[in-house]
Amino acid sequence: MLPCPSLSRSGLHARRRTRGALRVHAVAAPIIPGKGECPLYRDRTGKLIPAMCADYGFRSGAGRLYQESYGEVPKDVWQLAKDNYRHELEQLRRAVRYPPSDVRQPSHPVAKALHTANGVVGAALASLDKALEEARVLPELQPPPVRSALETQEFKEIRARLDQLRLDADDVIAVERERIATGGGDMESPLWVKAPFYALCWLLDIMYDNKPIEKFWVLETVARIPYFAYISILHLYESLGFWRAGAELRKIHFAEEWNEMHHLQIMESLGGDRAWMDRFIAEHSAVFYYWVLILFYLVSPRMAYNFMQRVELHAADTYTAFLQRNAAVLESIPPPMVALQYYYSEDLYLFDEFQTASRGAPPRRPRCETLLDVFKNIRDDEMEHVKTMIACQNSTIAKDIAAASASSSSSPSPSATELPAPATPPKRAAASTVVEE
Ligand SMILES: [Fe+2]
Ligand SMILES: [Fe+2]
Repeated sequence: MLPCPSLSRSGLHARRRTRGALRVHAVAAPIIPGKGECPLYRDRTGKLIPAMCADYGFRSGAGRLYQESYGEVPKDVWQLAKDNYRHELEQLRRAVRYPPSDVRQPSHPVAKALHTANGVVGAALASLDKALEEARVLPELQPPPVRSALETQEFKEIRARLDQLRLDADDVIAVERERIATGGGDMESPLWVKAPFYALCWLLDIMYDNKPIEKFWVLETVARIPYFAYISILHLYESLGFWRAGAELRKIHFAEEWNEMHHLQIMESLGGDRAWMDRFIAEHSAVFYYWVLILFYLVSPRMAYNFMQRVELHAADTYTAFLQRNAAVLESIPPPMVALQYYYSEDLYLFDEFQTASRGAPPRRPRCETLLDVFKNIRDDEMEHVKTMIACQNSTIAKDIAAASASSSSSPSPSATELPAPATPPKRAAASTVVEE
């Protein structure tokens, strides 16, 4: 691991001063850096906030939000599948032939056994790959790209700080127990809802022991699937003429899914999707999970919301425990650009739309100046999802929607009165992106 410098904010400020002459443009949006410069973001008040210099994720370009091809129409499915499988095959081969040297050893006994088994299978696959390459069945594999051009001093420092982040399952249990003790007890769920939830938690705790960002990335990959499943069923009911009262609900679930998608993008920018195996597990689990949730919602929408309330509560507890343990390190890291673009977005409609239970209160306009702020915002978003899931089970969601319609027709939106004119999301050059396994 690389040595980590002082974690104080003064160290970061010193680094900001050494970033060189940054060009500042009068634009209320990201400020695209020149060569050798780090990006800045101008918030709604005109304040300039330094963003994380690099992107530590696997994807770039059309694979990521707010990068090149943003908002464009995709190619046909065959071309996309072909591109993806070609890319992933190469990454799989590199993952077994050039395994990363900085993988953290797990501490849980089952996780250790899985880690050892993974090493044995990887070594066997590497031998097979070499044999197939020598037999000219597979093309010659190039080693991973040299990253020296991207590895600035700041890149290394932030990477070292990210590697210091820890998440302990016992901390999460302690937060959960405290919430239950101080919040009037645990929520009610039948056993058939509780059982898959606890199985999922146990599995993820073991598989992602000592890998918090990877765990959050997997969690956020599956976190938006239920909302997509609920939208699918509501859409189907509307098309079949069974139930058309759910159109407003569909809008709320889309806003929730949009919010979870940004959590996912933040975890990607921090490098949560670097390992081929993590991508394979999360993306295939998401497809399976979708169909399970479809069944859930068909049989009992109330229980599907109950299940999701548990999942969202667990997510909030996990982020709370993570924040408690890592506050100092998180405060020393600048926010990723995708977080700035979301939390300071001009698209206030979608951000306010999922916070159904907080209507009537002043709209949330969270601070986003460090990675600590980013994780606090994500935790607070998860709590908003919990409130919405409770409202969906108690049918108060209809009253919330009616109240929102009444208030929006009687008062101007905060975006019209308090904020500058919307800026078109700029097309940005891809940030420094690391492709590694
Ligand atoms: Fe989330
Ligand atoms: Fe969530």
